[in-house]
Parts: sequence; structure tokens; C-alpha cells
Amino acid sequence: MSDLDLVAQSIIFIFGGYETTSTTLSFLMYILATHPDIQQKVQEEIDATLPNKVHPTYDALTQMEYLDMVLNETLRLYPVSARIERMCKKDVEVNGVFIPKGTLVMVPRSVLHRDSALWPEPEEFRPERFSKKNKDSINPYMYVPFGIGPRNCIGMRFAMMNMKLAVVRVLQNFSFKPCKETQIPVEIDSPRMIEPRRPIVLKVELRDGTLSGA
Ligand code: HEM
Repeated sequence: MSDLDLVAQSIIFIFGGYETTSTTLSFLMYILATHPDIQQKVQEEIDATLPNKVHPTYDALTQMEYLDMVLNETLRLYPVSARIERMCKKDVEVNGVFIPKGTLVMVPRSVLHRDSALWPEPEEFRPERFSKKNKDSINPYMYVPFGIGPRNCIGMRFAMMNMKLAVVRVLQNFSFKPCKETQIPVEIDSPRMIEPRRPIVLKVELRDGTLSGA
């Protein structure tokens, strides 16, 4: 690899990894604040897996099924990277539409993720869609927060683990609530990235008066 390749790869890792992760976490915190029952269930799972606020291990994070469901459902409603783009490598016809070689095809992710034919009441936040029982019936080409195929997100597993770690550490100590500045429902701005039009503002409460070490 040339020096230029190395710099280019490093930059794409920073741009591709930072904003995506932090925006998803903002949406997740908004969801938890506006769905206190779900927030409580996540906290109960965290407390049961990690008693006395011990520091999470990799194994503990992989065990938390409900947290995984909540994160997947957050990425369904708010897939931060708005669309998949692919260059057509040969002339092809799909459902009567001719696509010539060399065409850039864009698939808007949020249209797939909010299609009522695939997701009953798509605007509802329902982690159960991703329960062990239900997730096998999800078509992998219709749920694509990290893309699909050989060029899907290279940071997917790292991103999921990183977000789970952040959520667990924060929810071990704090709970989130809406306040008068919270915009409900959150307004989305999505020219290229799906992000809140205005900053998400929430009230943060210490859970039980004790903080575990950072
Ligand atoms: C919530 C977090 C993230 C989301 C939602 C996300 C989403 C995506 C999506 C949709 C793609 C395009 C995939 C496709 O076209 O099929 C992508 C590509 C990519 N992502 Fe992520 N990403 C996230 C975090 C990260 C992190 C943490 C890193 C690096 C540490 C990363 C690095 C990359 C790179 C390098 C590519 C380009 C892969 C290629 O072209 O082969 N992403 N990501």
C-alpha cells in the first residue's frame, strides 16, 4: 500500500466509524427516554448480567439478547447511512426495468426498513421483531443497516460491540427521560445521513446515587 492509500483508508475508518456510531447512540437514547418500559427492561438485563455494576466483559455483552434486539430495532428505524449504492456491472432487467451497465443504482434503506408489507406497523418501536423466535423470518436483503454482500460495513461487529459497551456503561449509572426541550417525535434530516434535524436533548438522572468507576 502507498502512503496515500494508508491515509485514505485511515480517513474512511474515522469518517465511516465515528458519526455513524454516535448518531445511532443518540437515537437509541431518545428511544429509551421516550419508552421507559423498554429502558427499564434493558437496565434489568444489564443488572442481571452484571451485578453490582461490574465492568462488562466481551462475553457478557454478547449474552445480552434484549439489548441486541433494542439496538437492531433502533438501526431499523434510524439506519444512519441513508442508502446503498452499487454500480451495475452488466445490462440487466429487474421487474421490467432495464438497467444499463455502468448505472449507479441507489437503494434507500429507510424505505425498505419502513415498508409495512415487511414490518407490521413500521413506525412502532418493537424490539420483539428481532427476538430469537422472530429474527429468522427477516429477509436479509430487506434489513440492511450495515449494507450487504462483499462490500458491506467492515466495522459492523466492532460498531455493535462498541455501542453495546457504551449503552451498558451509561445505563448502569444513569436513566434517561424526556424534558421540555425534547422534540417528540424527533424530526429527521436525511440528505445523505439520517440524523436528527435538531440536537436530541434529554434529562439524565443518576439511578441510585452511586457511580461505578469509569
Ligand atoms: C452504527 C455504526 C455503523 C453503521 C450503521 C455503518 C454502516 C455502513 C454502511 C451502510 C456501509 C456501506 C455498506 C454497503 O454498501 O453495503 C458501511 C461501509 C463501511 N463502514 Fe460502516 N457503519 C458503522 C460503523 C463503522 C465503523 C465503527 C467502522 C470502522 C471502524 C466502519 C467502517 C466502514 C468502512 C471502511 C466501510 C466501507 C467498506 C467497503 O467499501 O468495503 N463503519 N458502513
